[in-house]
Amino acid sequence: MITPPRKRIETLPHQPTRVTAIYPGSFDPITNGHLDLIQRGSRLFDRLIVSILWNDAKEPLFSVEERIEMLREVVGVYPNVEVDSFHGLLVDHASAHSATVLLRGIRAISDYEYELQMALMNRRLRPAIETVFMMANEAYSFISSRLVKEVFSLGGDISGLVPPTVEARLQRRLAKVV
Ligand code: PNS
Repeated sequence: MITPPRKRIETLPHQPTRVTAIYPGSFDPITNGHLDLIQRGSRLFDRLIVSILWNDAKEPLFSVEERIEMLREVVGVYPNVEVDSFHGLLVDHASAHSATVLLRGIRAISDYEYELQMALMNRRLRPAIETVFMMANEAYSFISSRLVKEVFSLGGDISGLVPPTVEARLQRRLAKVV
């Protein structure tokens, strides 16, 4: 029996898409929870930009320049991770970098409402940009920058909650204050 020649399946030329994601936040200061998300995000996306918001409404402990320095000290090991800062709308900052993803972490159900609101607002503003949520590592799900600062200022032990370089900076900052 003669079998008919197999029809060639036409495929589109394979065009790998490079995905740039923005991981925005205050990072005052960066915690091991943030760092865990950065590490995992760096494996998911081709380029990950950690972006610090210039927020005049908040009174931060560390200036944006100091936070950039702290972040750069710890993300240097990930070649596809960059650090910068932004003013104004997050979606405008993302578009300026051709980023199509906003990365955010969720620690507990209490984070969900705020994150949902932001994600829906950002989607309304720029539908082409997708917010991707990652669940925080359970080992860090109780950590926040605010609690770290509070515990540290009251003399509590924060080792293991922030990178050692950040702990050292906190110590220097507290020594200046007292
Ligand atoms: O770590 P934070 O403080 O919870 O981060 C909040 C942040 C920086 C992601 C959010 O305040 C933000 O994106 N601000 C930029 C202003 C903006 O775009 N607002 C409209 C969309 S919610």
